[in-house]
Amino acid sequence: MTQHAELVRAYHQRTKHRLDRYAPGPETLDWDAQPNPFRSYEGCRRIPLSLGAELLETSFGALYDDGSVEPRALSLASIGTLLQLALGLSAWKESGPDRWAVRCNPSSGNLHPTEAYLVARGVPGLDDGLYHYLSRDHVLEQRARFPRGGNEEVQPRLWIGLTSIHWREAWKYGERAFRYCQLDIGHVLGSLRYAAAALGFSATIVPGLSGSRLAAVLGTDRPGDFAGVEREDADVLIAVEPGRGSRFVDEIRVDLSEALAATAVDWAGHANLLDPRPLYRWPIIDSVSAATSERGKPPVSLAAPSYPRRIQHSSEPAANLILNRRSAQRFDPKFSMDAATLFQMLDALLARDMPPWDILSEAPHLHPVIFVHRVDGLDRGLYVLPRHQKAEAALRESLSPGFSWRKPEAAPAHLPLFGLTSADCRWVARTTSCHQAIAGDSCFSLGMLAEFDASIARDPWCYRQLHWEAGLLGHVLYLEAEAAGLRGTGIGCFFDDAFHDLLGLSGTAFQSLYHFTVGRPLGDDRISTSPPYPGRSAGDSLEPMT
Ligand SMILES: Cc1cc2nc3c(=O)[nH]c(=O)nc-3n(C[C@H](O)[C@H](O)[C@H](O)COP(=O)(O)O)c2cc1C
Repeated sequence: MTQHAELVRAYHQRTKHRLDRYAPGPETLDWDAQPNPFRSYEGCRRIPLSLGAELLETSFGALYDDGSVEPRALSLASIGTLLQLALGLSAWKESGPDRWAVRCNPSSGNLHPTEAYLVARGVPGLDDGLYHYLSRDHVLEQRARFPRGGNEEVQPRLWIGLTSIHWREAWKYGERAFRYCQLDIGHVLGSLRYAAAALGFSATIVPGLSGSRLAAVLGTDRPGDFAGVEREDADVLIAVEPGRGSRFVDEIRVDLSEALAATAVDWAGHANLLDPRPLYRWPIIDSVSAATSERGKPPVSLAAPSYPRRIQHSSEPAANLILNRRSAQRFDPKFSMDAATLFQMLDALLARDMPPWDILSEAPHLHPVIFVHRVDGLDRGLYVLPRHQKAEAALRESLSPGFSWRKPEAAPAHLPLFGLTSADCRWVARTTSCHQAIAGDSCFSLGMLAEFDASIARDPWCYRQLHWEAGLLGHVLYLEAEAAGLRGTGIGCFFDDAFHDLLGLSGTAFQSLYHFTVGRPLGDDRISTSPPYPGRSAGDSLEPMT
């Protein structure tokens, strides 16, 4: 095993929460000294973006129907809508003396470690250049310009790069924070893919670019611009294109985005300081970040879809669901959902060559194990959804031999859902999710088993990718829950091995990376809500279609 793979495995073990002790983290928290949740750059030109999301009529159901949404032109207006739906603020919340922003993308502890950068070329109204997106003000901050030779006409091109500021998350969660940063990246991949689909755009991870080369493209490797402040870790670059996006092979995308970065001039901006008095240091986070930063192996492409085409009937505007997505903080413990809705949500988790799974364009590596608590027409108990056939065989080998592997009669034939055992799992779900009531009071909750050993042995970088896939699964559940009139919540706090033990898992062939819960939410009257961008209206119209 390589040194990097060993380090990843050691980090994963060490950051497990256990029933008798939590992973190493801060002993005290000074809530008033929370790091600034917004990165900004001093001394940059700022380009205000329009707020077009509310004007977008694309239905949620149409997002899964690749090709049915007429592509918009790549313009400053459509980029404004894309960023608003993917990463923008959706409200300000207030309770007593506390005021905080919530965004279209969820984040562990609402700490938002993810930063977004745009690499743009040929977009009308925007200099060719590199930009940072500041969600607080819905503006672009111009970091650099790419000079263009002569009057050459170029096709508009856009890439979006994501980075993580680990300290934002480590401030509260200590060593486990690297995992949460990666799960958050997965959620942003989901929120970007859904937002792009609503505009008729494709969005695909550029597979050949990671680590130091990506940091150079995004300007996060410039020591002077980050002198004395928290650094950022470059995670992923996504190519965004109007239409289906199959016109450019990936290597060309890499070459072009890197070539642009190489010619960057007129650099501007110094990153702001987020936490003037950090109380702790968690050096293992830098180590696991370094061990996973360079992608070593080419992707394993998405297996040909063997499931029937997904049909989502929701006619609700996608933007409404996205802007109103929230995490439930409490659930109605008496409410039952119906089995058809559960099956529809689980069907959305099957990887197909369509949004949002096409952003990864790789075979699935995670498999939900579901605690069914309150679903009319389905027995209470433990179920599993292997997302490809080889995994079903491996899970049958690895999970407890006492499990029955019975297909529920009411489930659609194509859905690879198996009942493992009938039982009231409310208490056990709650206990394994760090005693959080949301895991037991919901209609169902689940843990996501990753193909761990094989992925890490193949390429330690996959540790990030497994978390991205888990975050993406969570994001699908968030929006599907909203579409069904329900609500979800991501659960990053769970007792890893207590969950594995429950399933009879020994060894690390499969490891749970993320939990999730869905039910009917109960509100909290003490929290008031105000608009995300007061004084700014959804006035600017969207650009015409291409
Ligand atoms: C990776 C991840 C882990 C999370 N873990 C928990 C958790 O363990 N318990 C919980 O109550 N909420 C959890 N949440 C929900 C966040 O607290 C929530 O997303 C955040 O407060 C922002 O609120 P919003 O989702 O309504 O925008 C998690 C969210 C994410 C994305």
